[in-house]
Amino acid sequence: MSRDSLQIYLSDCQERVERALDHCLPLESVQPERLHAAMRYSVFGSGKRIRPVLVYAAGRALGVEPKLLDTPACAVELIHCYSLIHDDLPAMDDDDLRRGNPTCHRRFDEATAILAGDALQSLAFRILSRDKSMKSDCGIRLQMIEALALASGSRGMAGGQALDLDAVGKELNLAELENMHIHKTGALIRASVKLGSLQAAGATPDQFKGLDHYSKCIGLAFQVVDDILDVEGDTETLGKTRGKDELNNKPTYPALLGLESARHMAQRLREEGLESLRSLDRRADPLRWLADFIVERSR
Ligand code: IPE
Ligand code: IPE
Ligand code: MG
Ligand code: MG
Ligand code: MG
Repeated sequence: MSRDSLQIYLSDCQERVERALDHCLPLESVQPERLHAAMRYSVFGSGKRIRPVLVYAAGRALGVEPKLLDTPACAVELIHCYSLIHDDLPAMDDDDLRRGNPTCHRRFDEATAILAGDALQSLAFRILSRDKSMKSDCGIRLQMIEALALASGSRGMAGGQALDLDAVGKELNLAELENMHIHKTGALIRASVKLGSLQAAGATPDQFKGLDHYSKCIGLAFQVVDDILDVEGDTETLGKTRGKDELNNKPTYPALLGLESARHMAQRLREEGLESLRSLDRRADPLRWLADFIVERSR
């Protein structure tokens, strides 16, 4: 991988989506001010913006211009930020630190954090329904809304979070652990690639299939690495408290397989993901760099 190319691509996409997010979020001066402040507080900060970057990179692989992807990129990041706010609540992981700052319920209060999550979720679907910059016809918009709804709900992220909470203190087998990770984290990553691809008019079924398989592999790898970093990362770099999974008795890949096998598994998924991009040309390179980044990251 060319580290420079990846860094340039990442920061271009990050700047792009942050500008678009700033545009779509209500100002803090608008009533109800405290809720809008909590929404902005949770969206801005040191997030890696991996999901929006995947929207742009999947679109690019199929020749879609970034300006047609700002809205889907914002929508997936809004859902992700909502999921983080709720994930940190005392009723869930009970975390105090997120993206290097106090979690939303710590900085504001629990009720405001719940509502900020709710409102970010609604905003995601609102912008997908009405934003004109996408220039998509209604059929494509509806497919995007359906894909994001499926990935966020009880058959996707929220369902995965339910499995996660249910598993506390239990011993899951490998298939059960994989099922939990595929839903709580994989689903939204898969949807990010799908939203980017849906904007491409002339994509072939084979290209869609390859991209979808890539997204499944890196989506699972993403959570395997998140579990590894919870063991061997450092709180300052991560921006969240290391060691919480063990403390909360969460079933994770390192707990089930050991660190070494968990690392191997992430590498295998990376290779399988890269393999499924083989029919795509150089325009898919950012997707290839992202597969490396997801497995090699330290935050
Ligand atoms: C953390 O996601 C939560 C998981 C689904 C593992 P990220 O590692 O993408 O968090 P940010 O957006 O960069 O803070
Ligand atoms: C979170 O998984 C998945 C979400 C849907 C937010 P984790 O609970 O492991 O995420 P972190 O480690 O708190 O970011
Ligand atoms: Mg959690
Ligand atoms: Mg958590
Ligand atoms: Mg984690």
